[in-house]
Amino acid sequence: MSPQTAHPCTAALASFLSAKHAVLFPVALLLAACGENGGKPAGNTPTIATTVTARVTDAALLARGAQIYKANCALCHGANAEGAPNWHKPGPDGKYPAPPLNGTGHDWHHPMSALKWTIREGTGKLGGNMPAWKGKLSDSDIEAVIAWFQSRWPEEIYQNWALMDEKARR
Ligand code: HEC
Repeated sequence: MSPQTAHPCTAALASFLSAKHAVLFPVALLLAACGENGGKPAGNTPTIATTVTARVTDAALLARGAQIYKANCALCHGANAEGAPNWHKPGPDGKYPAPPLNGTGHDWHHPMSALKWTIREGTGKLGGNMPAWKGKLSDSDIEAVIAWFQSRWPEEIYQNWALMDEKARR
């Protein structure tokens, strides 16, 4: 019997899974892509549980995030993170009002590092009206508030974000 070489997709998947971030990623996508051009029977691809995400579900942490949000962010971003009215149109000062953080704006286009940066530093230096929170909120406060607003995102939005965030960290 001749030795079998690993299917390239299997190899890619194996190295992907051995990396530090095995569970964040919708593995189904990778398998589906491989299934198409590999041309091998489906039995050749390993069976792996799909789409295990690391969304925060810890109720105490989310409750803390909600408190922090209400006390510091709701004024501009809306009680339910729905954003200011007309958030997509610049105000009289030419600056954009606070966008939604509930997954209906562009919050989910930014990787975790950018979300944290925006909250810590604000956008004053970039010509925007988002205040800086460093010195007022700790890193763990910021993580809690992000966890809270991410808990409001529809599942599909969160999945897309997790995929993009994953790529941004490589
Ligand atoms: C004084 C009003 C105000 C407060 C209070 C405020 N923000 Fe903002 N925030 C803004 C504005 C305005 C923007 C848009 C900034 C820009 O376009 O430069 C923004 C943008 C953001 C963004 C980027 C979103 C995106 O879609 O790009 C995040 C994340 C964010 N804010 C989180 C928070 C959090 C968390 C808090 C509370 C700790 C908070 N903000 C408090 C006004 C505010």
